[in-house]
Amino acid sequence: MLLEELQERLKNSSTKKKILITDLTPRDGQQCKLATRVKTDDLLPLCEKLDKVGFYAVEVWGGATYDVCLRYLKEDPWERLRRIKEVMPNTKLQMLFRGQNIVGYKPKSDKLVYKFVERSIANGITVFRVFDALNDNRNIQTAVKAIKEFGGEVHAEISYTRSPVHTVEKWVSYALEIAEMGADWLSFKDATGIIMPLETYDIIKRIKEETGGKLPVLLHNHDMSGTAIVNHMMAILAGVDMVDTVLSPLAFGSSHPATESVVAMLEGTPFDTGLDLRLIEECAQITKEIRKKYRQYETEYAGVNAKVLIHKIPGGMISNMVAQLVEANAVDKLEMALEEVPNVERDLGYPPLLTPSSQIVGVQAVLNVISGERYKTITKEVRDYVEGKYGMPPGPISQELADKILGQGVRPDFSTRAADLADPEDFEKAKEEAKAVLKREPTDEETLLFALFPMQARDFLTSDKKPEEPKAPLEATQVQQGSAPTEFEVIYHGERFKVKLEGVSAQVEPNKPRKYYLRIDGRLEEVQLFVKEEATGIKPQIQQSSRQRASQIGDATAPMPGRVVRILVKEGESVKEGQTILIVEAMKMENEIHAPISGVVEAIFVKPGDNVTPDDALLRIRPLEEPQYG
Ligand code: CO
Repeated sequence: MLLEELQERLKNSSTKKKILITDLTPRDGQQCKLATRVKTDDLLPLCEKLDKVGFYAVEVWGGATYDVCLRYLKEDPWERLRRIKEVMPNTKLQMLFRGQNIVGYKPKSDKLVYKFVERSIANGITVFRVFDALNDNRNIQTAVKAIKEFGGEVHAEISYTRSPVHTVEKWVSYALEIAEMGADWLSFKDATGIIMPLETYDIIKRIKEETGGKLPVLLHNHDMSGTAIVNHMMAILAGVDMVDTVLSPLAFGSSHPATESVVAMLEGTPFDTGLDLRLIEECAQITKEIRKKYRQYETEYAGVNAKVLIHKIPGGMISNMVAQLVEANAVDKLEMALEEVPNVERDLGYPPLLTPSSQIVGVQAVLNVISGERYKTITKEVRDYVEGKYGMPPGPISQELADKILGQGVRPDFSTRAADLADPEDFEKAKEEAKAVLKREPTDEETLLFALFPMQARDFLTSDKKPEEPKAPLEATQVQQGSAPTEFEVIYHGERFKVKLEGVSAQVEPNKPRKYYLRIDGRLEEVQLFVKEEATGIKPQIQQSSRQRASQIGDATAPMPGRVVRILVKEGESVKEGQTILIVEAMKMENEIHAPISGVVEAIFVKPGDNVTPDDALLRIRPLEEPQYG
C-alpha cells in the first residue's frame, strides 16, 4: 500500500513541492566531526560562499559554540556572530537554543532568556531552533515568546528517543502543544540518529495530519545508524517541508546526510530543491580544506557506529564516557558503563539523550560502575533533576532513586516550572560580577557570558589584560645532555600549543600508567604514560605539586582532575562523614566532594577557580577525639 501511494505521489506532478534545505556545516557539522574547534577566520570564507547558494537558513551558532569559543579558541562568540553576519547578508542565520538552559547546562531565569534572545537578534540571528532535552514545553515557552517579540523566527523542536513511554501519540501530543504555542516551524529532531525510515514516515505523516498541515515541519536527523538519508526521503514522501544537511566533507555518521547528496537525490523529481549543485560543490571544496586543517580533532566515534545501534547512545556521549573512564583509570569498564546507561535512563524517566540529559545520565552511569554500587555517589545534577530543577521527565522516576534523594516514600514533584526554581536575579548578579572583574560597566553581551559560563568568561575577559610574560626560548648551547623540557611550545599540524608540566602523580602502582598533569594552553589535562625510558641525573625542577598532597585519612580529594567551583564549609566547622563539602567541575558536570571522615575542618587548601588533580588535598579534616568516658 505504501509503495503504491509513493509511486502515485512521485508520478503526480500536481503534488510538486520544493523541499527547503538548511545547511548546518558551520555549527552542527563541525561540532559533530571536528569538536567545534574551527576558528572564525577559517569559517568566514565558507560562510561567504554559503551565502550565495540560497539555503533556507544556515546554522552558525549555539550548542557547543559558546563553550568551545571561550574554553579553547579564546574567541568572543558574539564577535564570531557579527563577523559571520557581515559576510552573509542574504541568508538567515540560525542558532541552536537549549530552551530555558539557553546555551548552557542549567535552567536560567526568564529575564536572562529575554536578554539573550534580544542580543542574539541584534547581533545577527534570525532563526532559533529551540528545544528542551526532556520535551517539557514549559521550558521553551519563554524563549518562544521572546523570539516572537523581538522579531525572530521560532523553530520549536521535538527530540526523538526510543523508550516504553514514547509512542506516536506522545509525539503527536507534543506537536499539538507546539502548534498551540505559536511556533513558526516544527522541527522533529533525532539527535542520536536511531530512528528508522518507516517510523519516520509514520511520525511525520501523523504530525502533518494532526496539526492540519498549518505548521511547516522539518526533519533534523543525525546519521549514526547510516539510515538518515533514507529517513529524509521517507519524511519528504510523508509531507515534510524542509530537511537539514551538512556539506559532504563533514557529513554522514555522527553528522547529517550530505547537502550535495540530498540536492542530487531530489533533482528532477517533484521535490526539486532548485539549488545549484555546482555552487554547493564549491562550498564543499572549502569545507574539505577545513577538515584537513583540523583533522586532529576528528574522533573515532564520527562514523556509523554499531555500538550506537546496539546501545542507542549518542556517539558524543560515548566519547565523554570514555574520557571519564580513562581519567578514573577504568577504561576496561566501558562495556559495563554502556550497559548501565539504560538503567539510569529508566530510573530518570526516559529522558531523550541530548544536552544536558546525556551528560547527566552518562556521568551517573559511569559513577555507578566505578564505585561498584548503584547511586553510591549521586551527582548534583541527578539530585537537581529529581528535585524538578530541569523540568518534567517523560516517564516516572524510580522510587528507589527518589527515596535516596528526597527521603523515604516521597514522590518527586514536577508541578513547578524549572525556570521558577532558577535564580531570578541571575542576570543582575552576573552583571555585578562582570563589573567587579572588568572594573567598568559591562556590555549586555559580556554580562551574558558571565551568566552562562562564569569561570570561562572570567578567564577569557581578563586574559587580554595580563598577557603571559613571553619566555625567550633556551639557546641551543644551554641545552644540557640528558635534560628534558618542562615548559615548551609544540607545533602540531600547523597549530601551536603551549605546554607546561605541572606535576607528576606521587603514587605509581605496578603495571599502571603514571599520571602527568600538563597545562596545555592554560587548561589542565591529565595524561597517562607507561614510561619506557627516562633521562636520569636531572635535578627535578617541577614541583611535585604546588599544593598539599593528600596524605592523611581526613584529606578530601577529587576523583578526577577538575576545577573548584564552590567550597561549602569553613575552617573550624564540624562536618559529618559523607557530607558534601566542596563542588568540583569536571567533564562539564558539578561533582560533589564528600567529607571522607567526620571531624572538624582544619585547613582549606584551595579556592574557587583552582585547578586540582586527584593527588591534591583539597581540604583537611581533623578527626574527632575519641569520646572520653568516666
Ligand atoms: Co544536531
